[in-house]
Amino acid sequence: MARVMLVNFGFLLLVMISFGFLSNILGQQQDDAGDDDDDDTAVYIVTLKQPPFVHLFEEEELKQIRHRHQSPMHGHTSKFKPKLQPRNISRKRHGRGRPKRPPSIAQTHDSFLRKTLKGEKYIKLYSYNYLINGFAVFVSSQQAEKLSMRKEVANIVLDFSVRTATTYTPQFMGLPEGAWVKEGGFETAGEGIVIGFIDTGIDPNHPSFSDKDINSQHSYPTPKHFSGVCEVTPDFPSGSCNKKLVGARHFVQSAITRGTFNSSEDYASPFDGDGHGTHTASIAAGNHGVPVIVSNHSFGNASGIAPRAQISVYKALYKSFGGFAADVVAAIDQAAQDGVDILSLSITPNRKPPGVATFFNPIDMAILSAVKTGIFVVQAAGNTGPSPKSMSSFSPWIFTVGASSHDRVYSNSITLGNNVTIPGVGFSSPTDDGKMYKMVSAFHALNNSTSVDTDMYLGECQDYENYNQELVSENLLMCSYSVRFVLGLSTIKQALDVAKNLSAVGVVFYMDPYVLGFQINPTPMDMPGIIIPSAEDSKILLKYYNSSIERDATTNEIVEFGAVAAIEGGLNANFSNKAPMVMYYSARGPDPEDNSFNDADILKPNLVAPGNSIWGAWSSASIDSTEFEGEKFAMMSGTSMAAPHVAGVAALIKQTYPNFSPSAIASALSTTALLNDNRGGPIMAQRTYANPDQSLLNATPFDMGSGFVNATAALDPGLIFDTSFEDYMSFLCGINGSDSVVLNYTGIDCSSSNSSTISGFDLNLPSITVSTLNGKQVFKRSVRNIAGNETYNVGWSPPYGVSMKVSPSLFSIGTGETQVLSITLEPTKNSSSSSFGRIGLFGKAGHVVNIPVSVIAKIVLS
Ligand SMILES: *[C@@H]1O[C@H](CO)[C@@H](O)[C@H](O)[C@H]1NC(C)=O
Ligand SMILES: *[C@@H]1O[C@H](CO)[C@@H](O)[C@H](O)[C@H]1NC(C)=O
Ligand SMILES: *[C@@H]1O[C@H](CO)[C@@H](O)[C@H](O)[C@H]1NC(C)=O
Ligand SMILES: *[C@@H]1O[C@H](CO)[C@@H](O)[C@H](O)[C@H]1NC(C)=O
Ligand SMILES: *[C@@H]1O[C@H](CO)[C@@H](O)[C@H](O)[C@H]1NC(C)=O
Ligand SMILES: *[C@@H]1O[C@H](CO)[C@@H](O)[C@H](O)[C@H]1NC(C)=O
Ligand SMILES: *[C@@H]1O[C@H](CO)[C@@H](O)[C@H](O)[C@H]1NC(C)=O
Ligand SMILES: *[C@@H]1O[C@H](CO)[C@@H](O)[C@H](O)[C@H]1NC(C)=O
Ligand SMILES: *[C@@H]1O[C@H](CO)[C@@H](O)[C@H](O)[C@H]1NC(C)=O
Ligand SMILES: *[C@@H]1O[C@H](CO)[C@@H](O)[C@H](O)[C@H]1NC(C)=O
Ligand SMILES: *[C@@H]1O[C@H](CO)[C@@H](O)[C@H](O)[C@H]1NC(C)=O
Repeated sequence: MARVMLVNFGFLLLVMISFGFLSNILGQQQDDAGDDDDDDTAVYIVTLKQPPFVHLFEEEELKQIRHRHQSPMHGHTSKFKPKLQPRNISRKRHGRGRPKRPPSIAQTHDSFLRKTLKGEKYIKLYSYNYLINGFAVFVSSQQAEKLSMRKEVANIVLDFSVRTATTYTPQFMGLPEGAWVKEGGFETAGEGIVIGFIDTGIDPNHPSFSDKDINSQHSYPTPKHFSGVCEVTPDFPSGSCNKKLVGARHFVQSAITRGTFNSSEDYASPFDGDGHGTHTASIAAGNHGVPVIVSNHSFGNASGIAPRAQISVYKALYKSFGGFAADVVAAIDQAAQDGVDILSLSITPNRKPPGVATFFNPIDMAILSAVKTGIFVVQAAGNTGPSPKSMSSFSPWIFTVGASSHDRVYSNSITLGNNVTIPGVGFSSPTDDGKMYKMVSAFHALNNSTSVDTDMYLGECQDYENYNQELVSENLLMCSYSVRFVLGLSTIKQALDVAKNLSAVGVVFYMDPYVLGFQINPTPMDMPGIIIPSAEDSKILLKYYNSSIERDATTNEIVEFGAVAAIEGGLNANFSNKAPMVMYYSARGPDPEDNSFNDADILKPNLVAPGNSIWGAWSSASIDSTEFEGEKFAMMSGTSMAAPHVAGVAALIKQTYPNFSPSAIASALSTTALLNDNRGGPIMAQRTYANPDQSLLNATPFDMGSGFVNATAALDPGLIFDTSFEDYMSFLCGINGSDSVVLNYTGIDCSSSNSSTISGFDLNLPSITVSTLNGKQVFKRSVRNIAGNETYNVGWSPPYGVSMKVSPSLFSIGTGETQVLSITLEPTKNSSSSSFGRIGLFGKAGHVVNIPVSVIAKIVLS
């Protein structure tokens, strides 16, 4: 496994072209190494045995606390005292109007530390008390040992690092004529719902987050049951928040204490110095009708998926180094306390958490508590695909989203003098209509024609001094594209500047012959230009170019560049792409249960959503991507872009069904997902990094979960699969050897008489995933009808090598009633490779409920 991951990382470097997070990945590697220097002082996350706030209550009580619009922490100490007045969302309230943690808890932590580490030096970074009771502290390993010996301490783990993993996608997802119509149009879509973002912060001045929506007549409501505040700092001044951006904080103690945070490279405030957080927030909840203008080209209007939802930002990730679990847990704890409805995390851990199971890490455990309070949590699957088990999001209470393509393409092309047309990318205008221009390779335009250097770099058009203007002027300059562009050592922007300086009419980038071929996102070009991403097509171009050159018979010097071409330009989108398709980088199941080879009986990812080539708002201060520096919008790709699409749809569901639990929202999204693409065939998945379009295979549930999100159908799911907090606890207790870690994290004793244990495949999820099918087994699922009376036909197709039966095969179900389904699976041949089937419930009133069935190992009992 380790080897696979290593190879994986090497390839990431090669393929993550113009993905903003490349620098983050590099940053984290150094940073992780920094964890084990001579000085063994480190950040630890300590959990105490006393239960946190949320575990003092049953799920149902927590729901009531929320519904009474009360600030829970106040409620806790003063018996649910109602909130005094509607909140005025203004940063001026900083430190005054926010729900303070009862001082007693933080003080208890302080006095506990003082007692335990008498007279010694240590730094407490955070007290956690809402979702988990504990603290993050910077201590030596001996001090950590001392803490772990105390009877009050339940658990102590080392902090770890994490990383960050639309003008049109609302249309591709059918929102304007579907889900938005049901909610009264974009003017109200998502209204009253607060989405929290654990990310790199936000640029509050962006028009996508203005509360003065020019297209909307009515103003934003004050969000109920929400009590967040906005920090005020010099770079996030008073007035940054408004009725759209209703909360903004940052969490950086762990990074500062480690010495990782550098205030001249990052902002110690909610301000987004990266761009990632601004981008993801705008995908989920950016305003409708914001014009996208990049590099002086217009790309239509942008809209979030839930354009009227409100945004609360919890910054825990930073441009130059990524982030740390201690800060992320503090951010989640605060978001839950503030009362967000939905939490979107476009971040994943850098490696699989060690221990009994991947689920037992401080972030997933804090999220479990957040889910108990009724918050729906979406997480990006990770960009670690496409190998099996590359999943970076683990737990069944988290909704994990993979990335797919959508049908929009901005296709550019170049037509050569021999009438061959080659496709490429680049947001550029065309060369003058009807004219063909001479092409000159940078290698043939070196200033001293005698010294034809072998340095690849000279072909990349990065340095004006190297080239001879006389040869390039009024011609197309040909530049080579190599790994140096991926690493940011060479840039498209610089090549365009050099070309302009040499008075070229345009630039043609071809793949350096040493490069395999990339999937390249279009980048803005302020002159005619094209990038040819295909290695094969690049060879065709070079062959034509070289064969058109005339040389002097005796000196071999070039006397004539005979090749000519015209660039068509790539500003116009067409919507002809076969889509959706699962992207190669989208992390895949099976869900790893632990650090070794074991698979969980849990389906991951849960769903795929658009994540490739997504337009989103961009921070004015971002220098993350040279191509989009200084722009208001940027086109980015990754599972980071897919997760907020689903957070937005979840806001629409929550608006329609305010009483839906997180598992009901997850069920509605899953059972209604699409299985076919826009050509009517099965959704396909890319399976390799290099030339991914040549490795397409039908997507399995381990590629796409239940399928591709259908927002319209998710608003009318018919039947719902419910899962409770108790079910998740029974599942955790059912993991071999988990008793002490469950006790340590949650204070719940698995061996007590009233606790039951179940396996992952027994959880009432809208999927069945069996890592080892040992002879005949029966699985139960229970569905609840939230629609009118309906009769359902049950159909199924068994996984290969398995016989399958579902009963009943026909049932009638009244509003509010439940129906139990029994699914019998029996292997018919021994096999260790995954196979997939499906159950469909077809309602007479038109509801269709899809349940993917995945079986990995099959053992026939003799
Ligand atoms: C909210 O606070 C702002 C700034 O202090 C003030 O101008 C405004 O009138 C207040 N609104 C309400 C409803 O209290
Ligand atoms: C912080 O960043 C600045 C600018 O990049 C750099 O000059 C400085 O050396 C850095 N400081 C530390 C302590 O790394
Ligand atoms: C984009 O929004 C502007 C107003 O912001 C509006 O005038 C224009 O018609 C919109 N364009 C499209 C294509 O919807
Ligand atoms: C955009 O166009 C304006 C005038 O049309 C010009 O002044 C400006 O330099 C252009 N910006 C870019 C990035 O090309
Ligand atoms: C290219 O095509 C045009 C018409 O489509 C034709 O007139 C011309 O002769 C062709 N040129 C070559 C080199 O084939
Ligand atoms: C090319 O080199 C000559 C001297 O060899 C120099 O005068 C000229 O400025 C150079 N051209 C460019 C574009 O740098
Ligand atoms: C051009 O020639 C000059 C003098 O011969 C030399 O110093 C310079 O390095 C050469 N430049 C290139 C790009 O080869
Ligand atoms: C090209 O760049 C050089 C060096 O930056 C500058 O001196 C020169 O004026 C530029 N020429 C043009 C035509 O922009
Ligand atoms: C999404 O679901 C709706 C409602 O069930 C359906 O009408 C629509 O065709 C679905 N979308 C696609 C692309 O199939
Ligand atoms: C749980 O906590 C106890 C006491 O601190 C410790 O000995 C044990 O190793 C912990 N178990 C796990 C699985 O972390
Ligand atoms: C729905 O079914 C229930 C019995 O399950 C029945 O009492 C009720 O009248 C039915 N409602 C409608 C609208 O048919």
